[in-house]
Amino acid sequence: MKNTNRMGYPGGFPHYLILTFSLMFSYPALGADAAVLLAGADAQRVESLLGKCDRCHGDAGVSDDPEIPHLVAQSATYLLKQLQHFKAGERDGGRMNKMIRKLDEQQLADVAIYFSSKSLPAQGGVTPLAAPALVKTGDAGRNIDACASCHGDDGQGKLDQYDAPALAGMPLTYFASSLSSFADESRKSDVNGVMGKVAKALSDSEVDELARYYLALGGRAPME
Ligand code: HEC
Ligand code: HEC
Repeated sequence: MKNTNRMGYPGGFPHYLILTFSLMFSYPALGADAAVLLAGADAQRVESLLGKCDRCHGDAGVSDDPEIPHLVAQSATYLLKQLQHFKAGERDGGRMNKMIRKLDEQQLADVAIYFSSKSLPAQGGVTPLAAPALVKTGDAGRNIDACASCHGDDGQGKLDQYDAPALAGMPLTYFASSLSSFADESRKSDVNGVMGKVAKALSDSEVDELARYYLALGGRAPME
């Protein structure tokens, strides 16, 4: 966030506004309200909330349940967007929705900032697998773009590709179930339907192979 001079703000410009503008500048897809919430977020305030998340998402946001995603090492903007979708009932997360409804928008931004700054530790005993062709080259015949073009070469996620989340180390069952919710359009949080298009084209055995490949990539560092 050091583009204040480049953007030519006068020296006395309020600091929080500069942060807000630079967040909007970095993430053009982000609404002004989300940028303001993240600029005002405070990871120190989350202590009392973490116990609620740990119950399902594991200790410190590192899941040990194959059906439940890790929360760490995703971008704050991605996490906040998903939480807002759960709160609004636009994404069905089962028990997630009910719990999130009790939190206010600023609390959602606080937990998003908190988890985005943590790493996902590498799992021991996981052997890396060769990347399926879909990862690096996609399949032009079926109009499937390479996963890596959006999710990064090592599944680390890419802010400048629709804020595509990190996939490295993602729990197996959650990986497959998130793809089926894009395919049946019960999850429509993907801008321009980019994931719906991909998920509809994949066979079950391709999903299974991709899930195993990404899980075996292991840990990941924070995205921002
Ligand atoms: C009762 C269990 C439960 C609790 C408690 C819970 N979650 Fe979840 N959460 C889930 C499930 C299940 C999913 C996957 C939903 C789906 O399949 O789409 C999920 C998904 C998410 C996602 C989406 C992740 C992604 O990769 O898209 C975020 C973000 C999230 N939870 C944050 C939180 C936070 C923050 C808390 C604590 C304030 C919390 N959850 C508490 C069960 C829970
Ligand atoms: C054009 C960009 C693009 C391509 C290509 C793409 N993705 Fe995605 N993917 C996204 C975005 C953006 C999201 C998050 C959508 C949202 O905001 O909910 C996503 C979400 C996902 C998720 C859910 C992650 C979570 O935490 O819930 C999985 C799994 C996934 N993609 C797998 C794949 C696989 C496998 C491929 C290749 C076969 C692929 N994607 C190709 C952009 C892309």
